[in-house]
Amino acid sequence: MIKKGIVLAGGIGSRMSPLTKAVNKHLLPIYDKPVFFYPLSVLMLSGIRDILIVVNKGEQNQFKKILPNGKNLGINITYAEQRYPKGLPDAFLIGEKFIGNENVALILGDNFFYAQSLTKKLKECVKLNKGATVILHPVRNPSYYGIASINKRNKITKIIEKPKKKFSNLAVTGLYFFDNKVVSYSKKLKTSKRNELEIVNLLNKYKNNNELSAQFLGRGGAWLDTGSIKDFYDTSAFVSALENRQGLKIACLEEIALNNKWINKRNVKIAIKFYGKCNYSQYLSTLIKKNHLNK
Ligand code: G1P
Repeated sequence: MIKKGIVLAGGIGSRMSPLTKAVNKHLLPIYDKPVFFYPLSVLMLSGIRDILIVVNKGEQNQFKKILPNGKNLGINITYAEQRYPKGLPDAFLIGEKFIGNENVALILGDNFFYAQSLTKKLKECVKLNKGATVILHPVRNPSYYGIASINKRNKITKIIEKPKKKFSNLAVTGLYFFDNKVVSYSKKLKTSKRNELEIVNLLNKYKNNNELSAQFLGRGGAWLDTGSIKDFYDTSAFVSALENRQGLKIACLEEIALNNKWINKRNVKIAIKFYGKCNYSQYLSTLIKKNHLNK
């Protein structure tokens, strides 16, 4: 079982400069919420309540202004700082104490997931006791991502980071589920040519032990990463279109906590006061109305 999760929200966001010169990318808006609410909501949907957010050195206080400790969401949020971006597995070295002897999920702070039965799939993934699970989803530009090929039984046969030659269109998305070996494996990783610890090398350790499995979002699902300006605005447009059409929000943290019965109406009222007069608060107030229609 996985009860702990890490959101990796560091990095310099170079592809989005000058927007990211003064403000961390994860604090910029995707439509009506900061970027990092979306991956955080994914961990919450999977039932994870103990969460470490890794941010850049000196940026902790900015995040804390929005989310001090998670208390009002019925979850436990702690922050840790990363001196400089050293690759994704660095999250497990920074988070070694937080992880202790438990299993852990990792989600990249700029990843966006939306899919039918997402919660059900996530709940399956957190049942993991041994090995690792990745979520695969097709992309048009395999050379931008970690890419995996699978055999007929959906077993991963090969994983390569940003392959120059196309061998599969299945990207390894930025949501990973690991057993506790992830810490010792990460410690043994050598830095790559680009001076980083590579997630693909970590995943290959599991694959070579026959302990790497794949999950799929499914064709109707959306996985967007908000790394470039274009992806960023596309994701915002996606959220805007869905929220305005349905009147239901994506990644409303209080709503998820309320549905999970981690908080009550009183917490929602506190949140409304905290956010002030805004569209988000207005939405929160509909959640605690007597005749609230949930679905
Ligand atoms: C990272 C990983 C890559 C993965 C991607 C998902 O790439 O290295 O394997 O497919 O995240 O967002 P980056 O965004 O750091 O280039």
